[in-house]
Amino acid sequence: MRYLILSDVHSNMDALLAVLQFMRRKRWDKAVCLGDLVGYGANPNQVIDTLRKTRSFTAIRGNHDKVCSGIEEGEMFNRIALEAAMWTRKKLTRFNLQWLRALPQGPVDIDGAFSIAHGTPVDEDAYIFGEIEALNVFRHTSDGLCFFGHSHFPVVFSLSPDSITTILTSGSSFRIRLQEGVRYLINPGSVGQPRDGNPQSSFALFDSKVRVVTIYRVGYSIASAQRRIQRAGLPRPLADRLSIGR
Ligand SMILES: [Fe+2]
Repeated sequence: MRYLILSDVHSNMDALLAVLQFMRRKRWDKAVCLGDLVGYGANPNQVIDTLRKTRSFTAIRGNHDKVCSGIEEGEMFNRIALEAAMWTRKKLTRFNLQWLRALPQGPVDIDGAFSIAHGTPVDEDAYIFGEIEALNVFRHTSDGLCFFGHSHFPVVFSLSPDSITTILTSGSSFRIRLQEGVRYLINPGSVGQPRDGNPQSSFALFDSKVRVVTIYRVGYSIASAQRRIQRAGLPRPLADRLSIGR
């Protein structure tokens, strides 16, 4: 089975369409999203409509999905994130708002092949930035493979019986074959708001038969996404940061 792993789309329709267009040339069977479908960008309804109609699609909620759909009020959000979340809440159709509210909390098991989480499989709102957080998650879970999002930073943490390793991804397609007896926490990066200094969309493909994960980077029309953000009256920094991938 080949799984398309998407995370942190953040209402960026230009980025999502570029990713789906790129994947037309590749074979995949099911798609999953690790949360934060909306928030920040200007096309929340279009992103939800597109993902909902994607074949064999499973999603979990992210912290922005919770605030945008009214499950939480965003007390922990900065001013710009909160402004975008409240804008999104007003813009969502009644159907999409209810659909977003009903997204399950991670972790969710996918076909017994891997699990998906937004922040971590222990706490959906917590971040994994480095090996200390990754090790803490490995200690409190037993999954062999978990894909997580939230940090918008593509990275692979692996735990063998004697060491933990951080593998930073690079290039337009970064391939890793998963080893037997090693556990993995993998962030595919963000489709709609990358923060690793590379503004291209980031996502992954997992081939469970051969146990290979490939993290792809795909360019999209950043200028178009920025125009939409400005036209919507959303805070200017949300447009600016897309150019630099921060
Ligand atoms: Fe996010």
